[in-house]
Amino acid sequence: MTNEFQPLIDRAAWKNLEAHFREIRDRHLRTLFADDPARGERMTLDAAGIFLDYSKNRATGKTIELLRQLAEESGLRAAIDAMFRGEKINRTENRAVLHVALRAPRGTTITFDGENVVPQVHAVLDKMAEFSLRVRSGDWKGHTGRRIRNVINIGIGGSDLGPVMAYEALRFYSDRNLNFRFVSNVDGTDLAEATRDLDPAETLFIVSSKTFTTLETMTNAESAREWSLKGLGGEARAVARHFVAVSTNAAKVAEFGIDTANMFGVWDWVGGRYSMDSAIGLSTMLATGPENFRSLLNGFHQMDEHFRTAPFERNLPVLMGLLAIWNNNFLGAQTVAVLPYDQYLKRFPAYLQQLTMESNGKHVTVDGINVACDTSPVYWGEPGTNGQHSFYQLIHQGTRLIPCDFIAFVRSLNPLGRHHDLLMANVFAQAEALAFGKTPEQVKAEGTADWLVPHRAFEGNRPSNTILAERLTPETLGKLIALYEHSVFVQGVIWNIDSFDQWGVELGKVLAQRIVPELEGPKEPSLQHDSSTNSLILRYRKLKST
Ligand code: F6P
Repeated sequence: MTNEFQPLIDRAAWKNLEAHFREIRDRHLRTLFADDPARGERMTLDAAGIFLDYSKNRATGKTIELLRQLAEESGLRAAIDAMFRGEKINRTENRAVLHVALRAPRGTTITFDGENVVPQVHAVLDKMAEFSLRVRSGDWKGHTGRRIRNVINIGIGGSDLGPVMAYEALRFYSDRNLNFRFVSNVDGTDLAEATRDLDPAETLFIVSSKTFTTLETMTNAESAREWSLKGLGGEARAVARHFVAVSTNAAKVAEFGIDTANMFGVWDWVGGRYSMDSAIGLSTMLATGPENFRSLLNGFHQMDEHFRTAPFERNLPVLMGLLAIWNNNFLGAQTVAVLPYDQYLKRFPAYLQQLTMESNGKHVTVDGINVACDTSPVYWGEPGTNGQHSFYQLIHQGTRLIPCDFIAFVRSLNPLGRHHDLLMANVFAQAEALAFGKTPEQVKAEGTADWLVPHRAFEGNRPSNTILAERLTPETLGKLIALYEHSVFVQGVIWNIDSFDQWGVELGKVLAQRIVPELEGPKEPSLQHDSSTNSLILRYRKLKST
């Protein structure tokens, strides 16, 4: 039975979870481990090549069972099926949500509006592969006949964060003869710094924008075209050899001057933050080659299949999503730290910020009613071990509860002496210290002066997940991203919110457009904002003209 119309907090499982929370809220992880010494082996899940140890959460077998019931009562099974069936589950935008089709193997069927979209997906992938091979081999020449050595992706949000993250994550697999840069900010510094040492004759721009109307991207693309033309003798036809586009909007692409033969299509049913495995990932394919890109997609697909078919209690995204609900809505954690112990994943937390918070930062249900509990926590993080020498202090001894996702790999891509063992020793030690802490008795037994004991004691009882995979490969990266994508979906279904719209972001786009002419116009504008905004605008106008 689904409780589609029953508010979350009235569902039986929610009430049971509240009662259960009252029962176990004071139980320390030390006690949970002492009472159940096997939990470290049992509360783990090895699936689709990803190992998750969730035993260091403040949860018991009963917690997991109640959370599973909550998922059932929230209609998670039907929601998963609806997504994979191409139903328009993005209700406020009346759109299907079919990123799973982007990684469906050739020959499979996923239908949208009566049409199998998988052949379209593979046609674009083939076109991307052909183009990538031409650029990588030097067959694709710039306007002056020189080969391309630099690729600059211009995009923002989902058209930037995924490509940057994937480029950094898969740098090990990238062609080092090509230089990649990513420009997103409308702040001219971004483009100026990205181009200042490059030769336009060797530089290719990918303008990545689903809509091809986004202010930042179009402003950067216009300035990039000027830079390019200036360096190439001003001939408009040079643009064709130095600009390609990724978009749904062929008319706007043509208007910009890009040959639509060099446009790579995306579809309305791909959300920006779920698009890095579509043509938006063209820079990833250019950097790592079509084979690696296909491995990445294969990793995504393996996790999709696991998510679609595994029972909830043995389902990685479901478990991660439900534990996130537990930590957020019952333990009251306001944030989640994502801590990859792999330098290549340095942009993974930033990528996850859009995925999680643009998706689930919502205050009303799909029916437009105010939610009765908190929705998305704030995601943040940095790679380990760097963060250990910075904000970990607060995680260990601060007053806030911050659940952590540790991500680590058994093998390093750059084995170097003792480095990897030291890295891994740190990740295991951090999760252990957060869970078990250090009691005042233990601190005293080390000979610490009484007055210093409170400062050196660690309360512990800080929850964490440890995600362990064999090696950071394109396939593993695909699995990891799909794991978080689906975990976000699970949480959205429980909260009954639309995880696929972003009206809060749209507002910013409109507001800025209103102010632009007030800053640029020659005559002093008659301002109708509040007194603070009015005087800031006037001050800016005055100072910039002196
Ligand atoms: O920031 C809002 C948003 O709509 C994101 O969801 C999207 O990834 C980004 O803008 C960029 O949009 P586009 O690809 O259309 O330029």
